[in-house]
Amino acid sequence: MKALVLAGGTGSRLRPFTHTGTKQLLPIANKPVLFYVLESLAAAGVREAGIVVGSYADDIRLAAGDGSAFGLDLTYIRQDSPLGLAHAVSVARGFLADDDFLLHLGDNYLDGGVTDFAARAAAEPAAARLLVTPVPDPSAFGVVEADPAGRVHRVEEKPDRPRSDLALIGVYAFGPVVHEAVAAIRPSARGELELTHAVQWLVDHGHDVRADVTTSVWRDTGSVDDMLEANRHVLDRLDGRLDGKIDPDSAVVGRVRLHEGAVVRGSRITGPVVIGPGTVISDAVIGPYTSIGANCRVHDSSIEGSVLLDGADVDRAGRIERSFIGRDAVVTVPRHPYAHRLVLGDHSKVHLHP
Ligand code: TTP
Repeated sequence: MKALVLAGGTGSRLRPFTHTGTKQLLPIANKPVLFYVLESLAAAGVREAGIVVGSYADDIRLAAGDGSAFGLDLTYIRQDSPLGLAHAVSVARGFLADDDFLLHLGDNYLDGGVTDFAARAAAEPAAARLLVTPVPDPSAFGVVEADPAGRVHRVEEKPDRPRSDLALIGVYAFGPVVHEAVAAIRPSARGELELTHAVQWLVDHGHDVRADVTTSVWRDTGSVDDMLEANRHVLDRLDGRLDGKIDPDSAVVGRVRLHEGAVVRGSRITGPVVIGPGTVISDAVIGPYTSIGANCRVHDSSIEGSVLLDGADVDRAGRIERSFIGRDAVVTVPRHPYAHRLVLGDHSKVHLHP
């Protein structure tokens, strides 16, 4: 079966990071979210996948290439404006032809991947098959009402009064009739062609729409808190391995992945932690639940439950928690801190202690 991965979009909830890059390439445990998606599609037996890309097309192409590293044959499909998930399906019409396909949002992480779902979709084709999971607060999601046999009779986007606790997660399987639905719907109040409207159109026109319930851990990585949560979850399954250099004044406990070329001096690292190549940690306390990218420097600081992207530099910064620090960002504290001095990009968020 073909697959379509949606990796365009605006990513407004992940500003300022999405001012300079696309959210699907932000890392969970030092690996882009998108790579987890591509790996899970390949593991499910997909060989041919399309990636819908927007303004960061070149970055995604550079990262994922022709797909051979994942065992996939990738086709890039340009969406000129982020006009909605159903619009993204419509721009991929030529690639999809009249084939059945899996659709996976490029910023969604699903434990255990989509192998079972893909097998069910192949064995029992339907006009649409929706992967759903029970959530405590359904009103923040697309909500699916289905009968006990899994036949869907309503899909609602972020309803005020949800009639079910089953939330749509970012994985679907479609037959070619979805293109008829996408062509028939009109933009929503927020100006997007909504995939939920296309699915509801299929239901309303008597097509077979099924829900498959999963209880696997799923993370939509659309916001910083979601990214930190996904990072925590994936680090919990990390295999430790120490390929970098650790001096005798340091202590490393728990599962720590220290990449070749990383250096730890006079520091304490408590796993799960991943530290990328070229990074130097000195006189610092790191972890647990922290991912530090490549070529970072952390000196005389304590960092827990956080993510540092490549090239970040943290010096004498005291204690840092639940933080997401961008590429080449510099965090430091003057020796006599009478005042804060801030140079922050648009949409940055800084939480200062009095
Ligand atoms: P969303 O997170 O729903 O939308 P967004 O990327 O615009 O983010 P925000 O709400 O923070 O502004 O998108 C889910 C996935 O689908 C994500 O990987 C981006 C992708 N997408 C497209 O490829 N095309 C689109 O038109 C839209 C809206 C999203």
